[in-house]
Amino acid sequence: MSTDLFSPITVGELTFPNRIVMAPMTRNRAAEGNVPTPLHVEYYRQRATAGLIITEATQVSPQGIGYPATPGIHSEEQVAAWRQVTDAVHTAGGRIFCQLWYCGRISHPSLLEGETPVAPSAIKPEGEAMTYEGPQPFVIPRALEEAEIRDIVGQYQHAAACARQAGFDGVEIHAANGYLIDQFLRDGSNRRTDQYGGSLENRSRFLRQVIDAVSRELQPSQIGVRLSPENTFNSMSDSDPATTFAYVAEQLSPLGLAYLHVLEGDMASDTRALDYRHIRDIFGGIYMANNGYTRERAMTAITNGDADLVAFGRLYIANPDLVKRFAENAPLNASDPETFYGGDAHGYTDYPFLQEATADA
Ligand code: PHB
Repeated sequence: MSTDLFSPITVGELTFPNRIVMAPMTRNRAAEGNVPTPLHVEYYRQRATAGLIITEATQVSPQGIGYPATPGIHSEEQVAAWRQVTDAVHTAGGRIFCQLWYCGRISHPSLLEGETPVAPSAIKPEGEAMTYEGPQPFVIPRALEEAEIRDIVGQYQHAAACARQAGFDGVEIHAANGYLIDQFLRDGSNRRTDQYGGSLENRSRFLRQVIDAVSRELQPSQIGVRLSPENTFNSMSDSDPATTFAYVAEQLSPLGLAYLHVLEGDMASDTRALDYRHIRDIFGGIYMANNGYTRERAMTAITNGDADLVAFGRLYIANPDLVKRFAENAPLNASDPETFYGGDAHGYTDYPFLQEATADA
């Protein structure tokens, strides 16, 4: 039988029963101390039939935060709370990776005990930070010293160790969407003249160091990387994304990673200029496609060999049983953007499952 969306795939020591992945999504429902709650346990447990769950972006240290009520993976309390999540997902037969996040310039002093957000270069993004006091204009970030970059690499390693202790099957390094690693990769936000700026080798040095550090705690086959070559979200740009990200894909190719996860095109529009098949072919390993895929597009991408896995975001918010709905080509619940960020169980754990057929029906 030919490979389709419902074919299993082996990723390192794991077997995913299908190619349908729950994409990482910020939901701003963490409790005091940036700790996941029993609602997180229920939310992820409900979605355990996914081939793989990738958690919402999760900061590697208190300094990495950039939004209200996002969870972390650096304190004992957070590890204990995430352990409840991973146990529930595993008991329900699922697999779950933790997405490791450091926001950098996409933050605000009010989230950082008054400290100025940091970045590769002192370049202010356009737009507003989300804070507990509502949206506030971004500030000019402070350019990191080399010693501070080494400290942050250490924070990723600590977070990877915490993720392992919390029972995650692996981690995804968030190198997309305008957060710190992406700020180094793309030249619109990186004007450094030291070993972290200028050439492609230099701009990708921080990502490589993070991967090396995380690899001290986890097998390479437990580490995914997410990129977003042409996403303009968070004021991002690059003078030559095709060349930049072909280089990054080539660098990642020999590392034996779990997968490369790519947000294709732009989050805010349907435009895509890059040849993602080319990036996939350069990487050569397991390729996870994302951004606006429907059931039909995902089926085609898998059968054509354009992707090995497809990650779904919005569809997973509203359809905990997305795998079953896709398998049966059943109708999908519509998601309510009013409940995406913050709030309680409403719009989080109360989306209905398909009616289960009764045993004798
Ligand atoms: C968001 O909170 O809007 C957000 C967070 C992480 C992303 C993208 C968007 O990668």
